[in-house]
Amino acid sequence: MTADGQTPDEAGTPGEAVPEEIAFTQEVPRVEPILEVRDLVKYFPLTTGVVLKKQVGAVKAVDGVSFDLMQGETLGIVGESGCGKSTLAKVLMNLEPATGGSVRYKGEEISRLSGAALKAVRRNIQMVFQDPYTSLNPRMTVGDIIGEPYEIHPEVSPKGNRRKAVQDLLDVVGLNPEYINRYPHQFSGGQRQRIGIARGLALKPEVIICDEPVSALDVSVQAQVVNLLDQLQGEFNLSYMFIAHDLSIVRHISDRVGVMYLGKVVEIGTDAEIYDHATHPYTQALLSAVPVPDPTARESRDRIVLTGDVPSPANPPSGCRFRTRCWKAQQRCVVEVPLLVAPPWLDGPARHASACHFAAERENDQGGQNGQNGQGGPVAG
Ligand SMILES: Nc1ncnc2c1ncn2[C@@H]1O[C@H](COP(=O)(O)OP(=O)(O)OP(=O)(O)O)[C@@H](O)[C@H]1O
Ligand code: SF4
Ligand SMILES: [Mg+2]
Repeated sequence: MTADGQTPDEAGTPGEAVPEEIAFTQEVPRVEPILEVRDLVKYFPLTTGVVLKKQVGAVKAVDGVSFDLMQGETLGIVGESGCGKSTLAKVLMNLEPATGGSVRYKGEEISRLSGAALKAVRRNIQMVFQDPYTSLNPRMTVGDIIGEPYEIHPEVSPKGNRRKAVQDLLDVVGLNPEYINRYPHQFSGGQRQRIGIARGLALKPEVIICDEPVSALDVSVQAQVVNLLDQLQGEFNLSYMFIAHDLSIVRHISDRVGVMYLGKVVEIGTDAEIYDHATHPYTQALLSAVPVPDPTARESRDRIVLTGDVPSPANPPSGCRFRTRCWKAQQRCVVEVPLLVAPPWLDGPARHASACHFAAERENDQGGQNGQNGQGGPVAG
Protein backbone atom coordinates (compact mmCIF):
# COMPACT_ATOMS: atom_id res chain seq x y z
CA MET A 1 0.00 0.00 0.00
CA THR A 2 1.09 3.52 -0.67
CA ALA A 3 0.71 6.32 1.83
CA ASP A 4 -2.65 7.31 0.35
CA GLY A 5 -4.02 3.78 0.70
CA GLN A 6 -3.56 2.59 -2.89
CA THR A 7 -2.05 -0.80 -3.75
CA PRO A 8 1.13 -0.67 -5.89
CA ASP A 9 -0.93 -1.64 -8.96
CA GLU A 10 -3.19 1.34 -8.46
CA ALA A 11 -0.38 3.71 -7.64
CA GLY A 12 0.65 4.69 -11.13
CA THR A 13 -0.50 4.50 -14.74
CA PRO A 14 1.31 2.11 -17.13
CA GLY A 15 4.61 3.52 -18.36
CA GLU A 16 5.14 5.64 -15.29
CA ALA A 17 8.34 5.11 -13.31
CA VAL A 18 7.78 2.76 -10.37
CA PRO A 19 8.44 4.58 -7.09
CA GLU A 20 11.73 3.46 -5.56
CA GLU A 21 10.31 1.98 -2.36
CA ILE A 22 7.80 -0.15 -4.30
CA ALA A 23 10.46 -1.47 -6.68
CA PHE A 24 12.60 -2.39 -3.70
CA THR A 25 9.78 -4.22 -1.91
CA GLN A 26 9.03 -6.28 -4.98
CA GLU A 27 12.62 -7.43 -5.43
CA VAL A 28 13.26 -8.64 -1.89
CA PRO A 29 13.13 -12.46 -1.92
CA ARG A 30 10.72 -13.87 0.65
CA VAL A 31 12.56 -16.04 3.14
CA GLU A 32 10.34 -18.78 4.52
CA PRO A 33 10.85 -20.54 7.82
CA ILE A 34 12.07 -24.09 7.28
CA LEU A 35 11.31 -25.06 10.89
CA GLU A 36 8.54 -23.50 12.99
CA VAL A 37 8.74 -24.43 16.65
CA ARG A 38 5.80 -23.51 18.87
CA ASP A 39 5.40 -24.00 22.63
CA LEU A 40 7.64 -27.05 22.54
CA VAL A 41 7.71 -28.96 25.82
CA LYS A 42 9.81 -31.91 26.95
CA TYR A 43 9.37 -33.24 30.48
CA PHE A 44 11.28 -36.27 31.74
CA PRO A 45 9.22 -38.07 34.40
CA LEU A 46 10.73 -38.54 37.86
CA THR A 47 9.63 -41.86 39.30
CA THR A 48 9.96 -43.85 42.52
CA GLY A 49 9.56 -47.58 43.07
CA VAL A 50 11.21 -50.44 41.22
CA VAL A 51 8.36 -52.67 40.17
CA LEU A 52 5.38 -50.36 40.56
CA LYS A 53 6.75 -47.11 39.24
CA LYS A 54 5.01 -43.99 40.44
CA GLN A 55 5.60 -40.56 38.89
CA VAL A 56 6.48 -38.04 41.56
CA GLY A 57 7.44 -35.12 39.36
CA ALA A 58 9.15 -34.17 36.12
CA VAL A 59 12.37 -32.60 34.90
CA LYS A 60 11.14 -29.68 32.82
CA ALA A 61 14.04 -29.76 30.38
CA VAL A 62 12.30 -27.77 27.62
CA ASP A 63 9.27 -25.79 28.70
CA GLY A 64 7.43 -23.76 26.10
CA VAL A 65 10.05 -22.92 23.48
CA SER A 66 9.02 -21.09 20.28
CA PHE A 67 11.13 -19.85 17.38
CA ASP A 68 11.48 -20.06 13.59
CA LEU A 69 14.54 -21.31 11.74
CA MET A 70 14.63 -19.48 8.41
CA GLN A 71 15.88 -21.06 5.19
CA GLY A 72 19.63 -20.63 4.78
CA GLU A 73 20.21 -19.04 8.17
CA THR A 74 22.22 -20.07 11.21
CA LEU A 75 20.43 -19.80 14.53
CA GLY A 76 22.83 -20.02 17.46
CA ILE A 77 21.57 -21.38 20.78
CA VAL A 78 23.52 -20.54 23.93
CA GLY A 79 23.00 -21.10 27.63
CA GLU A 80 24.55 -22.72 30.68
CA SER A 81 24.98 -26.45 31.06
CA GLY A 82 21.66 -28.20 31.77
CA CYS A 83 19.42 -25.43 30.35
CA GLY A 84 17.93 -27.83 27.80
CA LYS A 85 19.91 -27.20 24.58
CA SER A 86 20.57 -30.86 23.72
CA THR A 87 17.06 -31.91 24.72
CA LEU A 88 15.68 -29.24 22.39
CA ALA A 89 17.87 -30.60 19.57
CA LYS A 90 16.76 -34.20 20.21
CA VAL A 91 13.09 -33.27 20.29
CA LEU A 92 13.45 -31.32 17.02
CA MET A 93 15.06 -34.40 15.47
CA ASN A 94 12.30 -36.57 16.94
CA LEU A 95 14.94 -38.64 18.73
CA GLU A 96 12.95 -37.88 21.89
CA PRO A 97 9.15 -37.57 21.73
CA ALA A 98 7.81 -34.11 22.59
CA THR A 99 5.59 -33.83 25.66
CA GLY A 100 3.70 -31.00 24.00
CA GLY A 101 3.85 -28.28 21.38
CA SER A 102 4.52 -28.34 17.69
CA VAL A 103 7.43 -28.59 15.23
CA ARG A 104 6.63 -27.90 11.59
CA TYR A 105 9.06 -28.62 8.78
CA LYS A 106 8.14 -26.63 5.65
CA GLY A 107 4.64 -26.26 7.08
CA GLU A 108 4.17 -29.97 7.92
CA GLU A 109 3.75 -31.05 11.55
CA ILE A 110 6.56 -33.54 12.29
CA SER A 111 6.58 -33.86 16.08
CA ARG A 112 4.13 -36.76 16.10
CA LEU A 113 5.25 -38.59 12.96
CA SER A 114 6.33 -42.23 13.00
CA GLY A 115 7.27 -44.99 10.55
CA ALA A 116 7.85 -44.13 6.90
CA ALA A 117 6.70 -40.51 7.28
CA LEU A 118 9.24 -39.91 10.06
CA LYS A 119 11.98 -41.62 8.04
CA ALA A 120 11.29 -39.35 5.07
CA VAL A 121 11.53 -36.19 7.21
CA ARG A 122 14.64 -37.39 9.06
CA ARG A 123 16.49 -37.46 5.78
CA ASN A 124 16.16 -33.70 5.59
CA ILE A 125 17.12 -32.89 9.17
CA GLN A 126 20.49 -34.22 10.27
CA MET A 127 22.61 -33.78 13.37
CA VAL A 128 26.31 -33.28 14.06
CA PHE A 129 27.27 -34.26 17.60
CA GLN A 130 29.69 -32.79 20.10
CA ASP A 131 32.22 -35.47 20.68
CA PRO A 132 34.03 -36.71 17.58
CA TYR A 133 35.88 -39.20 19.80
CA THR A 134 32.82 -41.18 20.87
CA SER A 135 30.25 -40.43 18.18
CA LEU A 136 32.10 -42.49 15.51
CA ASN A 137 32.07 -46.28 15.76
CA PRO A 138 35.76 -47.29 16.22
CA ARG A 139 35.22 -50.64 14.47
CA MET A 140 33.87 -49.15 11.25
CA THR A 141 35.95 -47.67 8.43
CA VAL A 142 35.40 -44.05 7.54
CA GLY A 143 33.78 -45.18 4.29
CA ASP A 144 31.26 -47.32 6.20
CA ILE A 145 30.57 -44.57 8.75
CA ILE A 146 29.88 -41.90 6.14
CA GLY A 147 28.00 -44.30 3.85
CA GLU A 148 25.86 -45.87 6.61
CA PRO A 149 22.91 -43.47 6.09
CA TYR A 150 22.61 -44.84 2.52
CA GLU A 151 21.61 -48.22 3.99
CA ILE A 152 18.50 -46.54 5.41
CA HIS A 153 17.94 -44.27 2.41
CA PRO A 154 19.25 -46.23 -0.62
CA GLU A 155 17.33 -43.91 -2.94
CA VAL A 156 19.87 -41.13 -2.27
CA SER A 157 22.82 -43.17 -3.55
CA PRO A 158 22.33 -46.54 -5.26
CA LYS A 159 24.75 -49.32 -4.19
CA GLY A 160 27.18 -49.13 -7.14
CA ASN A 161 27.73 -45.37 -6.63
CA ARG A 162 28.35 -45.33 -2.90
CA ARG A 163 32.13 -45.49 -2.83
CA LYS A 164 32.32 -42.54 -5.20
CA ALA A 165 29.64 -40.66 -3.21
CA VAL A 166 31.60 -41.14 0.04
CA GLN A 167 34.88 -40.07 -1.60
CA ASP A 168 33.16 -36.94 -2.89
CA LEU A 169 31.96 -36.18 0.64
CA LEU A 170 35.48 -36.66 2.04
CA ASP A 171 36.70 -34.20 -0.56
CA VAL A 172 33.93 -31.70 0.29
CA VAL A 173 34.93 -31.66 3.98
CA GLY A 174 38.62 -31.26 3.18
CA LEU A 175 39.82 -34.85 3.75
CA ASN A 176 41.81 -36.98 1.32
CA PRO A 177 39.33 -39.30 -0.53
CA GLU A 178 41.95 -42.04 -0.29
CA TYR A 179 41.38 -42.22 3.49
CA ILE A 180 38.13 -44.09 2.86
CA ASN A 181 39.42 -47.38 4.32
CA ARG A 182 40.97 -45.89 7.47
CA TYR A 183 39.53 -46.15 10.98
CA PRO A 184 38.52 -43.24 13.27
CA HIS A 185 41.55 -43.66 15.57
CA GLN A 186 43.82 -42.82 12.64
CA PHE A 187 42.45 -39.26 12.55
CA SER A 188 42.89 -36.17 14.73
CA GLY A 189 39.93 -34.63 16.60
CA GLY A 190 39.34 -31.99 13.93
CA GLN A 191 39.50 -34.59 11.16
CA ARG A 192 37.03 -36.79 13.03
CA GLN A 193 34.59 -33.92 13.29
CA ARG A 194 34.98 -33.46 9.52
CA ILE A 195 34.00 -37.13 9.17
CA GLY A 196 30.95 -36.46 11.39
CA ILE A 197 30.03 -33.51 9.17
CA ALA A 198 30.48 -35.60 5.98
CA ARG A 199 28.12 -38.20 7.45
CA GLY A 200 25.64 -35.44 8.29
CA LEU A 201 25.77 -34.26 4.66
CA ALA A 202 25.41 -37.74 3.09
CA LEU A 203 21.63 -37.60 2.68
CA LYS A 204 21.72 -34.05 1.26
CA PRO A 205 19.73 -32.59 4.17
CA GLU A 206 18.33 -29.07 4.30
CA VAL A 207 18.72 -28.57 8.05
CA ILE A 208 21.69 -29.55 10.22
CA ILE A 209 21.47 -29.33 13.97
CA CYS A 210 24.97 -28.99 15.38
CA ASP A 211 25.14 -29.77 19.11
CA GLU A 212 28.39 -28.32 20.45
CA PRO A 213 30.22 -29.40 17.27
CA VAL A 214 33.54 -27.80 18.22
CA SER A 215 33.48 -27.82 22.04
CA ALA A 216 35.68 -30.92 22.30
CA LEU A 217 38.30 -29.57 19.87
CA ASP A 218 41.46 -27.53 20.40
CA VAL A 219 40.92 -23.81 19.95
CA SER A 220 43.13 -23.74 16.83
CA VAL A 221 41.03 -26.46 15.19
CA GLN A 222 37.68 -24.98 16.24
CA ALA A 223 38.00 -22.09 13.77
CA GLN A 224 38.77 -24.47 10.90
CA VAL A 225 35.68 -26.58 11.57
CA VAL A 226 33.47 -23.49 12.00
CA ASN A 227 34.81 -22.09 8.71
CA LEU A 228 34.08 -25.42 7.01
CA LEU A 229 30.48 -25.33 8.27
CA ASP A 230 30.20 -21.75 7.02
CA GLN A 231 31.51 -22.69 3.59
CA LEU A 232 29.23 -25.75 3.31
CA GLN A 233 26.21 -23.64 4.20
CA GLY A 234 26.79 -21.44 1.15
CA GLU A 235 27.52 -24.42 -1.09
CA PHE A 236 24.50 -26.52 -0.14
CA ASN A 237 22.04 -23.84 1.05
CA LEU A 238 21.86 -25.39 4.52
CA SER A 239 19.99 -24.05 7.53
CA TYR A 240 21.85 -24.57 10.80
CA MET A 241 20.88 -24.63 14.41
CA PHE A 242 24.23 -24.21 16.15
CA ILE A 243 24.34 -25.03 19.85
CA ALA A 244 27.38 -23.94 21.85
CA HIS A 245 28.65 -22.68 25.18
CA ASP A 246 31.16 -20.33 23.60
CA LEU A 247 29.48 -17.03 22.81
CA SER A 248 32.35 -15.81 20.60
CA ILE A 249 32.05 -18.81 18.29
CA VAL A 250 28.29 -18.49 18.17
CA ARG A 251 28.59 -14.86 17.13
CA HIS A 252 31.06 -15.76 14.41
CA ILE A 253 28.73 -18.23 12.71
CA SER A 254 25.19 -17.10 13.61
CA ASP A 255 22.73 -14.80 11.87
CA ARG A 256 20.47 -14.87 14.90
CA VAL A 257 21.01 -16.05 18.45
CA GLY A 258 18.64 -17.48 21.06
CA VAL A 259 19.59 -17.52 24.74
CA MET A 260 18.19 -20.32 26.90
CA TYR A 261 17.77 -20.43 30.67
CA LEU A 262 16.19 -23.33 32.56
CA GLY A 263 14.21 -24.76 29.64
CA LYS A 264 13.08 -21.46 28.13
CA VAL A 265 14.34 -19.06 25.46
CA VAL A 266 14.77 -15.76 27.33
CA GLU A 267 16.03 -13.56 24.49
CA ILE A 268 16.33 -13.95 20.72
CA GLY A 269 17.48 -11.59 17.98
CA THR A 270 20.08 -10.92 15.33
CA ASP A 271 23.69 -11.30 16.43
CA ALA A 272 24.06 -7.51 16.63
CA GLU A 273 20.86 -7.16 18.69
CA ILE A 274 22.00 -9.80 21.17
CA TYR A 275 25.71 -9.01 21.41
CA ASP A 276 25.52 -5.21 21.24
CA HIS A 277 22.03 -4.48 22.58
CA ALA A 278 21.12 -7.30 24.98
CA THR A 279 18.17 -6.38 27.17
CA HIS A 280 17.70 -9.50 29.31
CA PRO A 281 19.74 -9.53 32.53
CA TYR A 282 20.75 -13.17 31.99
CA THR A 283 22.15 -12.45 28.51
CA GLN A 284 23.96 -9.43 29.92
CA ALA A 285 25.54 -11.59 32.61
CA LEU A 286 26.63 -14.22 30.07
CA LEU A 287 28.13 -11.56 27.80
CA SER A 288 29.95 -9.86 30.63
CA ALA A 289 31.82 -13.12 31.24
CA VAL A 290 33.10 -13.49 27.65
CA PRO A 291 36.91 -13.16 27.63
CA VAL A 292 38.11 -9.89 26.09
CA PRO A 293 41.56 -9.97 24.43
CA ASP A 294 42.25 -6.22 24.83
CA PRO A 295 43.65 -5.64 28.38
CA THR A 296 42.40 -2.01 28.57
CA ALA A 297 38.90 -3.02 27.59
CA ARG A 298 39.13 -5.91 30.05
CA GLU A 299 39.98 -3.61 32.95
CA SER A 300 37.26 -1.08 32.22
CA ARG A 301 34.66 -3.80 31.77
CA ASP A 302 31.97 -4.20 34.35
CA ARG A 303 31.51 -7.91 34.88
CA ILE A 304 28.25 -9.24 36.29
CA VAL A 305 28.88 -12.09 38.70
CA LEU A 306 25.76 -14.18 39.10
CA THR A 307 25.18 -15.41 42.61
CA GLY A 308 23.21 -18.51 43.59
CA ASP A 309 22.91 -21.87 41.92
CA VAL A 310 20.85 -22.63 38.86
CA PRO A 311 17.51 -23.89 40.26
CA SER A 312 16.47 -27.47 39.57
CA PRO A 313 14.51 -27.90 36.33
CA ALA A 314 12.28 -30.28 38.33
CA ASN A 315 11.17 -27.37 40.48
CA PRO A 316 11.72 -24.09 38.62
CA PRO A 317 10.89 -20.76 40.31
CA SER A 318 7.42 -19.29 39.75
CA GLY A 319 7.05 -16.27 37.47
CA CYS A 320 10.39 -15.50 35.86
CA ARG A 321 12.72 -18.48 36.17
CA PHE A 322 15.75 -16.20 36.40
CA ARG A 323 14.43 -14.21 39.36
CA THR A 324 16.38 -16.14 42.03
CA ARG A 325 19.61 -14.86 40.47
CA CYS A 326 18.43 -11.56 39.00
CA TRP A 327 19.52 -8.28 40.57
CA LYS A 328 16.57 -6.46 38.98
CA ALA A 329 13.87 -8.80 40.29
CA GLN A 330 10.69 -7.23 41.68
CA GLN A 331 7.54 -8.72 43.18
CA ARG A 332 5.99 -8.83 39.70
CA CYS A 333 8.69 -11.30 38.63
CA VAL A 334 7.49 -13.78 41.30
CA VAL A 335 3.91 -13.93 40.07
CA GLU A 336 3.98 -13.16 36.35
CA VAL A 337 5.80 -15.19 33.69
CA PRO A 338 7.48 -12.70 31.31
CA LEU A 339 6.55 -13.30 27.66
CA LEU A 340 9.16 -13.55 24.92
CA VAL A 341 8.12 -10.43 23.00
CA ALA A 342 9.74 -7.22 21.77
CA PRO A 343 9.25 -4.76 24.66
CA PRO A 344 7.17 -1.85 23.30
CA TRP A 345 9.04 0.65 25.53
CA LEU A 346 12.33 0.00 23.71
CA ASP A 347 13.46 1.39 20.35
CA GLY A 348 15.92 0.54 17.58
CA PRO A 349 18.01 -2.63 17.91
CA ALA A 350 17.07 -2.94 21.61
CA ARG A 351 13.51 -3.71 20.53
CA HIS A 352 13.81 -7.45 19.96
CA ALA A 353 12.21 -10.40 21.76
CA SER A 354 13.24 -10.47 25.43
CA ALA A 355 11.37 -12.27 28.22
CA CYS A 356 11.87 -9.67 30.93
CA HIS A 357 9.32 -7.35 32.59
CA PHE A 358 12.02 -4.70 32.89
CA ALA A 359 14.03 -5.32 29.70
CA ALA A 360 16.62 -2.59 29.14
CA GLU A 361 20.06 -2.23 27.65
CA ARG A 362 22.79 -2.47 30.23
CA GLU A 363 24.11 1.09 29.94
CA ASN A 364 20.76 2.32 31.23
CA ASP A 365 20.83 0.42 34.47
CA GLN A 366 24.44 0.49 35.57
CA GLY A 367 25.31 2.21 38.81
CA GLY A 368 25.59 -0.51 41.41
CA GLN A 369 28.19 -3.16 42.05
CA ASN A 370 28.95 -5.35 39.01
CA GLY A 371 26.60 -3.32 36.87
CA GLN A 372 23.76 -3.97 39.26
CA ASN A 373 21.30 -1.18 39.67
CA GLY A 374 20.78 -1.47 43.37
CA GLN A 375 17.01 -1.80 43.04
CA GLY A 376 16.87 -4.81 45.29
CA GLY A 377 18.33 -8.29 45.14
CA PRO A 378 16.81 -11.53 43.95
CA VAL A 379 13.26 -12.00 45.15
CA ALA A 380 12.55 -15.20 47.02
CA GLY A 381 9.20 -16.93 47.10
N1 LIG B 1 16.96 -38.71 29.48
C1 LIG B 1 16.84 -37.86 30.50
N2 LIG B 1 16.17 -38.19 31.63
C2 LIG B 1 16.01 -37.31 32.64
N3 LIG B 1 16.52 -36.04 32.63
C3 LIG B 1 17.20 -35.66 31.53
C4 LIG B 1 17.41 -36.54 30.42
N4 LIG B 1 18.13 -35.87 29.46
C5 LIG B 1 18.35 -34.64 29.98
N5 LIG B 1 17.81 -34.52 31.21
C6 LIG B 1 17.84 -33.32 32.07
O1 LIG B 1 17.28 -32.26 31.34
C7 LIG B 1 17.97 -31.04 31.61
C8 LIG B 1 18.50 -30.47 30.32
O2 LIG B 1 19.55 -31.31 29.84
P1 LIG B 1 20.30 -31.04 28.46
O3 LIG B 1 21.25 -32.16 28.24
O4 LIG B 1 19.29 -30.79 27.41
O5 LIG B 1 21.10 -29.69 28.78
P2 LIG B 1 22.20 -28.94 27.91
O6 LIG B 1 21.80 -27.51 27.86
O7 LIG B 1 22.40 -29.65 26.61
O8 LIG B 1 23.49 -29.08 28.83
P3 LIG B 1 25.04 -29.19 28.37
O9 LIG B 1 25.46 -27.79 28.02
O10 LIG B 1 25.72 -29.68 29.60
O11 LIG B 1 25.14 -30.15 27.23
C9 LIG B 1 19.06 -31.40 32.62
O12 LIG B 1 18.57 -31.12 33.91
C10 LIG B 1 19.24 -32.88 32.43
O13 LIG B 1 19.69 -33.49 33.61
S1 SF4 C 1 13.81 -8.29 36.03
FE1 SF4 C 1 12.28 -9.81 36.58
S2 SF4 C 1 11.48 -10.53 34.64
FE2 SF4 C 1 13.40 -9.50 34.19
S3 SF4 C 1 14.92 -11.13 34.20
FE3 SF4 C 1 14.91 -10.23 36.25
S4 SF4 C 1 13.51 -11.50 37.40
FE4 SF4 C 1 13.14 -11.91 35.23
MG1 LIG D 1 24.06 -30.55 25.72
